[in-house]
Amino acid sequence: MKLIPNFSFRARLTLLIIGLLAFLLLIQGFVFYQDTEKLLLDETASNVRARAKPIIEGWVHKKIFRKCVRNEKVNGNSCLSYIALALAENLTSKNAVAQIFDCNGHLLANGKTLPEEPEAAKIIPRYAQSALRGQNEVTYFAHRGNIPFLVVLIPLRLPQKEEQIVGVAQISVTLKSLQQKLKRHGIFLAFVALVTLSSGILLVLLIVSSFFQDLKQIAETCRGIAEGNLNLQFPHADRQDEIGQLIQAFNVMIKQIGEILDSQKRFVANAAHELRSPITALKGSLDILLRGVRDDPVASSRILTGMHREVERLKSLCDRLLDLSRLEGIVTPQKTSVDLQEFFREFFPQLQMIARERCLKLLTGPGVSVMMDSNMLREMLFNLVMNAVQHTESDGKISIGWRLVSEPEGVQFIVEDNGEGISSHDLPKIFEPFYRGHKKEFEGKNSGAGLGLSIVKAITVIHNGSINVRSVLNVGTKISIIIPFE
Ligand SMILES: Nc1ncnc2c1ncn2[C@@H]1O[C@H](COP(=O)(O)OP(=O)(O)O)[C@@H](O)[C@H]1O
Ligand SMILES: [Mg+2]
Repeated sequence: MKLIPNFSFRARLTLLIIGLLAFLLLIQGFVFYQDTEKLLLDETASNVRARAKPIIEGWVHKKIFRKCVRNEKVNGNSCLSYIALALAENLTSKNAVAQIFDCNGHLLANGKTLPEEPEAAKIIPRYAQSALRGQNEVTYFAHRGNIPFLVVLIPLRLPQKEEQIVGVAQISVTLKSLQQKLKRHGIFLAFVALVTLSSGILLVLLIVSSFFQDLKQIAETCRGIAEGNLNLQFPHADRQDEIGQLIQAFNVMIKQIGEILDSQKRFVANAAHELRSPITALKGSLDILLRGVRDDPVASSRILTGMHREVERLKSLCDRLLDLSRLEGIVTPQKTSVDLQEFFREFFPQLQMIARERCLKLLTGPGVSVMMDSNMLREMLFNLVMNAVQHTESDGKISIGWRLVSEPEGVQFIVEDNGEGISSHDLPKIFEPFYRGHKKEFEGKNSGAGLGLSIVKAITVIHNGSINVRSVLNVGTKISIIIPFE
């Protein structure tokens, strides 16, 4: 069974806040009311005592009282009963009535003489015993009919022998007027609570409404984006609160998703474009063959050689595309500990072959091992050296080497050439798939499809590394790759 009905989140939040506010106000009002009541009662009790004390003091010092104490009995009656009435009447007023009890708890005198004076509350023996045992501050509540009383008990002590208690004075104060005061106070508190609650509700509704209004707009923007409009931006990005931070994060995310989608579209368009030229060339050749050139063996052989070249180009392009897509997604590197000195001893001669007459230098680094997929390392360095060769004059200088770095701790591979360099226009784009700079190439025209550096980047990323390119036009290019130790 569902305990909470299916209200909207907004309604639930509003109800929760208002409920909490009402609960807190109730608790606060209750505690405040209790405190005030206690304060007023304490004050009433101490007022009664303060008023009664001098009257009792004066009374116990009277001659007749001293006589009583000496003789114990006057005219056969208890000494106290003889004089208690005077004391009780003295202690009685419009709101308070006094009764005097002897040391056995028997009533000796009642101070009520006038009809407007209240009836005394009944004495409770338990409290009377406490007062007779010498406890000074005995105070309790009692009812007579509907009228509540505060009852104050004051022990009557002999003037010289303080510890000897001869009786107890009971003063019952009606709390009618105090109750009225408290009622007024309670009404005032309830009024304040009501005003606070209503303004609280108003404020909560305002805040919650504006909050949910913003959320609604965010949801609408999300729907728009889901329909494919990636140019939409979430509103209220200038908010300085958590919602503002969320919106800013959303906007950054949408921008990045847009960029990724754009680059994917570019990738597909570029791939189609790259595949189209060899296929068009192949189709042209096939058309010629079909038109009957087959009978001319020389022409056929020339056309077939051309077709073979185009198929080779197509195959190499497809291989590289496959390499790139595997590197960017499915493939996990087969990392082994590669001893760099040994690796270069074996690999450097192959690089020298592609450098041809250029001066290719190996700057041997320290004898360290790095955790890498050795085939990928080969592919990465091969691409870099190939680029250096393609963009350097035939008498150019190329160097390849490695060294240790500290931040992050790892190995830095460096390939440097003194070739044509890369323009600042091309520099930010050279890692994009199919991007080729606009400069001449010195070796193997049309040899690349602009995928070499994309593959280098993918290999670096797969090894948690980073690439840095420094290049000056007509001076040279230095590409360094840091692969951190794991
Ligand atoms: N060493 C280099 N010197 C000058 N330009 C370079 C060098 N390496 C890369 N480039 C530029 O970066 C572009 C992208 O390189 P790459 O991805 O390997 O593609 P490709 O070699 O197929 O053109 C190249 O077309 C070239 O303009
Ligand atoms: Mg290349």
